[in-house]
This record gives sequence, C-alpha cells and structure tokens, in this order.
Amino acid sequence: HTVKYAFGLEELERKLSGYLSVPKVIVVSGDSDELPVVKKELGRATVQQMKNRVSPGDVIAVAGGTTLASAADMMVPDAKWNNTIFVPARGGLGEKVEIQANTISSAMAMKAQASYRLLHVPDQLSEDTRRSLMQEPGVQEVLALLKSASLVVHGIGEAKTMAGRRTTSASLRSRLEEESAVAESFGYYVNQDGKVVHRENTVGLQWDELRPDQTVITVAGGSSKAKAIDAYMRYRPSSILITDEGAAKAILNQS
Ligand code: BG6
Repeated sequence: HTVKYAFGLEELERKLSGYLSVPKVIVVSGDSDELPVVKKELGRATVQQMKNRVSPGDVIAVAGGTTLASAADMMVPDAKWNNTIFVPARGGLGEKVEIQANTISSAMAMKAQASYRLLHVPDQLSEDTRRSLMQEPGVQEVLALLKSASLVVHGIGEAKTMAGRRTTSASLRSRLEEESAVAESFGYYVNQDGKVVHRENTVGLQWDELRPDQTVITVAGGSSKAKAIDAYMRYRPSSILITDEGAAKAILNQS
C-alpha cells in the first residue's frame, strides 16, 4: 500500500513538472486546506530542498507568509548552514508580524545557527519614499545582499485572500477584481494567463532582477490555491515547486 501511495505522489510530481514546466516538483501527501499537519510537511520538505541546494557562506532570501513560517518551524542546525546569511526578501507588508519576511528569515537563521539581516522598511510605499529609503546605507547593504542571494524561497497567495490580508485600498481591490487577478507573490498580482496586472511599490527583491543562476524555491499548497499556483508558475517558473496532493490534483484536473 505504502509503495503504491508513494508511486502515486511521484506520478503527480512528474505530471505537474511537465504541465507547469518546472524542473523539479515535490508533492507531499494530503491537502493543507483540510489538515494543518500537511502545512508542516510542506515546511519540512522546504527545509530539505533548501539544504540540498545550499553551500556554506551562501546568502538566502526568504519571503513571508504562513507556509514559510512552517518552514522556519522545521529548521534545525546543520553544517550546511555554516556562515550562511538569511535575508528578508521584502520589508513589512502590513501583515501580522509573525508572518512577515523579517520575522521568518531571522527565525530560520536563529534555528539554523546562522546569521541574518533585517530590512527595516515598511512595504507598499509611495514612489518618492521608496526612492529615498533606498538611499539609506543600511537598506542598501541588505539590497546588495539580496542581489547576491543564491537561494530564494517564497510562497504564493490567492489574490483575493492576499489583498484582504494586507492593507489594500478598496479601489485597488476592485481593480484587481476587474483585471481578474488570481495569484499574488512578492507584491506582483497576476491573472490566470500569468500576466502581471498589478505590482506593489516595494523595497526588496524584484522578480525582474532574478538571475538564472539563482535557485528559486516556491512553496504553496492547499486545493484552494490551485488556480493561483497554476497562474503564478506561468509568470515566473521557479527551479523547484513544493506543493501538496490537494493542490497538485486540483491543478491537473482543471488543466
Ligand atoms: C509569501 C509571498 O512568501 O507567501 C507572498 O511573498 C504570498 O507574496 C504568501 O502571497 C502566501 O502566504 P501563505 O500564508 O498563504 O503562505
């Protein structure tokens, strides 16, 4: 039974990797919408994949969200983390402090016994404020580190959920609806074809600055995120997608 089951997941991984054109897909069993323990497994798998790819001394950029918070929970010390630096991919997002990138990347670093930097800026700024903050030496140092990151780890959110979770104006919310935004990641909102329909003005890692030599680990699960994952992966295919059975089956069934 176990072998068959494992085979089932492998098959899902293979199919999803083909369908989304992602080189590597990891599917953990279950649906994190239904069982919280599945989110823990997503976290465990994320730490495992990070460990497979990291080398001592590397810079690791980490985004926020509840899924990455469970990856931080699963982090344990290992020689692989020697001299690594964890850096938040973004400033604060007007979200609860426990799930902000600053909190998660520093928590990961402390559990890994590595070092970390903080990005002391709010997110979603006016263009003028963003420009002047980016002149601050402390901010510039972190931005330079972010550019040198060899690993980038981030989640994907369902557009409406994310707009609700953040301090998003009513006018922007209705624009996102008009433009049929389905997914959000890093402040980029995309429609189901993977086209960017809105981008927040933020300090931090920008997707168009990512280089092919960086490993991007995307982690998102739960059948409710199927459309969001599908859409987002069209926009920005990553090196590794870590998801769960609930999301994987829903993506493939609707394809
Ligand atoms: C973060 C991304 O990593 O995960 C966000 O930066 C994304 O943009 C979020 O929306 C998803 O959060 P959660 O709580 O669903 O894991």
